[in-house]
Amino acid sequence: MRSHGQAAWELLLPSVDAPARQRGRALQEALREAVRSGRLAAGTRLPSTRELAADLGVSRGLVTEAYEQLTAEGYLRSGRGAGTWVGEAARARRTDRTGAVDGRLGPGAGGGAPTLGARAPAPAPAPAPVGGAVGVRVDFRPGTPDLSLFPRAAWAAAQRAVLTRLSHPALGYPDPRGLPELREALAGMLARRRGVVADPERLVVCSGVAQASTLLGFVLRARGLDAVGIEDPGSPEHGRLFASTGLDTVWLPLDEEGLRPEPLAASGVRAVVVTPSHQFPSGISWSAGRRAVLLDWARAVDGYVLEDDYDGDFRYDRAPVGALQGLDPERVVYAGSVSKSLAPGLRLGWTLVPEALLGEVVERKRTMDLGNPVLDQAVLAELVTRGGYDRQLRRCQRAYRERRDALLGALAEHLPGTRVSGIAAGLHVIARVPALFGPPERFLARAAEAGVALRPLEDYGTARPADGDVRLVIGYAHLAPSAVTAGIRLVAEAVGRE
Ligand SMILES: Cc1ncc(COP(=O)(O)O)c(C=O)c1O
Repeated sequence: MRSHGQAAWELLLPSVDAPARQRGRALQEALREAVRSGRLAAGTRLPSTRELAADLGVSRGLVTEAYEQLTAEGYLRSGRGAGTWVGEAARARRTDRTGAVDGRLGPGAGGGAPTLGARAPAPAPAPAPVGGAVGVRVDFRPGTPDLSLFPRAAWAAAQRAVLTRLSHPALGYPDPRGLPELREALAGMLARRRGVVADPERLVVCSGVAQASTLLGFVLRARGLDAVGIEDPGSPEHGRLFASTGLDTVWLPLDEEGLRPEPLAASGVRAVVVTPSHQFPSGISWSAGRRAVLLDWARAVDGYVLEDDYDGDFRYDRAPVGALQGLDPERVVYAGSVSKSLAPGLRLGWTLVPEALLGEVVERKRTMDLGNPVLDQAVLAELVTRGGYDRQLRRCQRAYRERRDALLGALAEHLPGTRVSGIAAGLHVIARVPALFGPPERFLARAAEAGVALRPLEDYGTARPADGDVRLVIGYAHLAPSAVTAGIRLVAEAVGRE
């Protein structure tokens, strides 16, 4: 066991010079960076929170919070009362940029065709239609943010500023990776908010997580892969998107910590798509242990992980757990978008690509559409750099937290005994309504007759529990608190036993 020395902590000192409000975040980022770069090696024991706080001249609470945050993300590990160590999960950042990545995935690499387990069946239903279906009074189907929160005034102001400033040549064909100013702005924002390793040179602006998935799918298919693993339960969109690139999809079962290690190892796939910060739809946040297992697996099979960070900014009880990509940027393709924070109709997102895949992904993007529209990119860059995007996230965060509270309150009052699982985050919850209100078919039919659209959890995976409980994926973010409460009351009246 290595022991810590005073000198090692000097590398954290600059972080405590940050303004008081940013000091905690700066300390966390400095610790992450020290682990990633290898300056704090795996197995290094960290000083106690009291010692480090005294060394750095900051409050003990700040250090405790940093240790807890980085332990949740997998950078550190701790035993009860036994101290905190640097974990093994983080892969030191590669300095060699020649593209000769260790274990490059190529056609025929890794022992031929995967031996596949359960192939995923036909994809589940598409997301709820925007605007609601005819006869629907309250639509609880998940997937849509509150579109009335779109910052029209800020967007219009940014658009005016951009049109005034943009040169004529800037309206020509863009770099297929995206406008340099947007890539710079996003890289800074993602490093700060999500703890990713964000090199603007490796960031590709694209039309949402959806296009990030198809770009990666085509690249992996061209490299000889024939299947990708998807979470069970998971987003139906993942299966559909990868299927469109010619890849088969294989269900990989989850438990309450993340993907189960044995089925993953036995699946034969060498690429998976996951939602570790806030698993869709189960709502769990992957444990640090499972994050480490997944990255070990990716290295062992010479494979890749697509991290879909679709709603990672919205966490209501604590700071969001940082992205998996930060632990190994050469194995994790990170993807996100403005679909939950601004509007899905913008079709604007980003992907951070490992060096080994970058050239192929950029060439796919070029041949697919020659790059995203320049004006929208410039407007988003303006919003991000001038603070408007952070303001928008704070506004949505406040609104969605209130709606989630309204939903939990309404479920407790009108459908007593209902259990809500998953972390306090995102735009939806999983609710397990007791069997006395069921069975599920009757429950859903009665709710539909009352004008309430609901989606059962079984739409998202293979599990078919026979206990009679009604498992629902309830989207609440697009509904006013009063509509949330009214909707649950309608359901309760419709399903109540006379
Ligand atoms: C879990 C998840 N990821 C990604 C997407 C697609 O996101 P985007 O609009 O960024 O393409 C969806 C949309 O339904 C989703 O539910």
